[in-house]
Amino acid sequence: MANYKIAVIPGDGIGPEIVAEALKVLEKVGTKFGHVFDFRHLLMGGAAYDAVGTCFPDDVLPVCRECDAVLLGAVGGPKYDALPGPERPEKALLKIREGLGLYANLRPAIMHKALSRACPIKPENIGDSMDILIVRELTGGIYFGEHSWREGKYGQEAYDVERYSEMEIRRIAKVAFEAAMARKKTLVSVDKANVLESSRLWRRIVTEMSADYPEVAVSHMYVDNAAMQLVHNPGQFDVILTSNMFGDILSDEASMITGSLGMLPSASLADGSFGLFEPIHGSAPDIAGRNIANPIATILSVSMLLRYALGLEAEARAIDDAVTAGLESGLRTGDIAEAGVTPISTTDMGQAILDRI
Ligand code: IPM
Ligand code: MG
Repeated sequence: MANYKIAVIPGDGIGPEIVAEALKVLEKVGTKFGHVFDFRHLLMGGAAYDAVGTCFPDDVLPVCRECDAVLLGAVGGPKYDALPGPERPEKALLKIREGLGLYANLRPAIMHKALSRACPIKPENIGDSMDILIVRELTGGIYFGEHSWREGKYGQEAYDVERYSEMEIRRIAKVAFEAAMARKKTLVSVDKANVLESSRLWRRIVTEMSADYPEVAVSHMYVDNAAMQLVHNPGQFDVILTSNMFGDILSDEASMITGSLGMLPSASLADGSFGLFEPIHGSAPDIAGRNIANPIATILSVSMLLRYALGLEAEARAIDDAVTAGLESGLRTGDIAEAGVTPISTTDMGQAILDRI
């Protein structure tokens, strides 16, 4: 029997609704496997702005650092769009990623057989299954390069700098190579080396490192081609390694191929086992508060938390299997419901998964 401290940041929009379901699932896992989860609830994003006047309160980083892992819903919403860049909810997300050293973002895009009808790609182009792991660099690149405004020749200019150091490329590439070793031993590194210097450095480092992993078949793909190949023939990919910005874009694309943005979890890892776990979708303000959002991406993020931060593989698998069983018995939220199927609510989906653990 073990005790774990989990920082919980529900955030904005549908965040609180989907996190509530995920926490019920985690409690159930605790009861079944004999663990105690001690939750530390934190405000961040728009919810924090409304309560205390800042999207990134001072207690966020220290409390997270005391915990074994962080579970996050989503942040942001139209209400905060007028805030200056550095004060926005999204900036809080970047600060927590940076502050906790979460440079490795794992975004598995797995197609559930039960959802194959929700997949927009022709079955013959998918192969038997789609199971891609996107390894996205998370604390560098254009998200963290210099950005500012200045007076230019033609009026105001704004700029954001894409910058990568060897060290940053090396440590994320290592995560991808190791993931590839544990999977099908193929790795596609995605860049824009025909145009960007930062990508040329990226490609050089990945090529150098491939000598240390002779069993891994490495190839390089330009991001425009990768975006096209993902819809043309997603079955060709296993592990994709890419930068912060390209990973943001390609992971949304990959998620849609699996049937819905509402299905994909993510793990953002630091060195060691500490991590933050969140769905890849956003706060979906248009459907917030209506009990119709899909909680599966957040529930699967709890599974990743158990697997990666706590090393509890059997517990993680119990959640994955419960999700699969729920989908196989035909349960659907609105985003994944086929024509003619009556969608169920967020809470009913959460309960259905919980019942299958
Ligand atoms: C994601 C999101 C974030 C990102 C936003 C909300 C800052 O799109 O996690 O994919 O761009 O990283
Ligand atoms: Mg994104």
